[in-house]
Amino acid sequence: MLEYTPVMQRAAINIEDQLRKVNGGISAALSGIAPEIFDFKAHPFSFLGKAARARFTLLAAQTLGADAARAGRAAAAAEMTHTASLLHDDCLDTARYRRGLPTLYDQLGVNGAILVGDLLMALAFDEAGAAAPELQGELAGAVRRMAEGALLEENSRWKKTDAAGAERMTALKTGALFRWCALAACHLARRQDLLETCARLGEGTGVVFQMVDDVLDFEGDAGACGKETLKDIREGKFTLPLILAINDGTAGPEAEKLLEALRAAPAADLGPALELSKLVREGGFCAAARADASKKAEELKPLADQLPAGEGADALKKFINDTARRLA
Ligand code: IPE
Ligand code: MG
Ligand code: MG
Repeated sequence: MLEYTPVMQRAAINIEDQLRKVNGGISAALSGIAPEIFDFKAHPFSFLGKAARARFTLLAAQTLGADAARAGRAAAAAEMTHTASLLHDDCLDTARYRRGLPTLYDQLGVNGAILVGDLLMALAFDEAGAAAPELQGELAGAVRRMAEGALLEENSRWKKTDAAGAERMTALKTGALFRWCALAACHLARRQDLLETCARLGEGTGVVFQMVDDVLDFEGDAGACGKETLKDIREGKFTLPLILAINDGTAGPEAEKLLEALRAAPAADLGPALELSKLVREGGFCAAARADASKKAEELKPLADQLPAGEGADALKKFINDTARRLA
């Protein structure tokens, strides 16, 4: 039985002050938007969620000895890029709740949510350039990979895939931005010798993060996660817990039958999704996916050990471990 930490625990070293500055930086970037373009008062929405990418950037920067102010700007750029991708993702998924509030898709419709996402993405590139000019080109590469991952996922709806296919998609759609976070820290610290290590560590951390996000869609608490659950299966997105169930000799045929019923059911009928998720959870496939995520986190340790040892590296390793065990 895995032991879960209740929520992603705070890092051992104190990055909370820096995170407040990141939040301030995001607000400052948004403050240039005129109310007739986007009215923040009329549309309450959280532009910073769990701040996992910001925490990861700040911890990597601290470990490598990067300038804290520049790292803060890179962290803000990462979060703005992430939120922009979520504004688009919520349109693709017809998602109504995000970070405990109605999505901008819900509030503004597809057109408004896409355009606010584009605006935010442009601001993220400005912020990345302000941290260090070379980070903009790296960010373009990351956004390209994120879009490729999202397209792969879109093209795979309701299609059977295997664990390797799912991991490829995950490395692109989520690994790419965590990879950028670690690379940004590396560039800012002028540790070109560690670029390859940071790229792999960042991508791997993103994969672990997304694997748990996929598990939480089956077993998470919607209140704690701030978004609807069972969204992936209802949208025809086959993530690792379901892939494991489908490929299981015992549970497979029943899972396939329930999937067919789910696909045929009207969107408002939650019955088949609930039944399928019960099968996936009770068959032990969420636990198996979590165990896989923990194993992947463990495999990242040798990479983390290549970074300068100290409090920063310890906190970074703890962050990666907590990521595999998080409940929200
Ligand atoms: C897509 O991942 C978000 C990106 C990485 C762009 P998910 O579709 O799993 O995100 P949630 O579950 O809607 O938050
Ligand atoms: Mg989604
Ligand atoms: Mg998800």
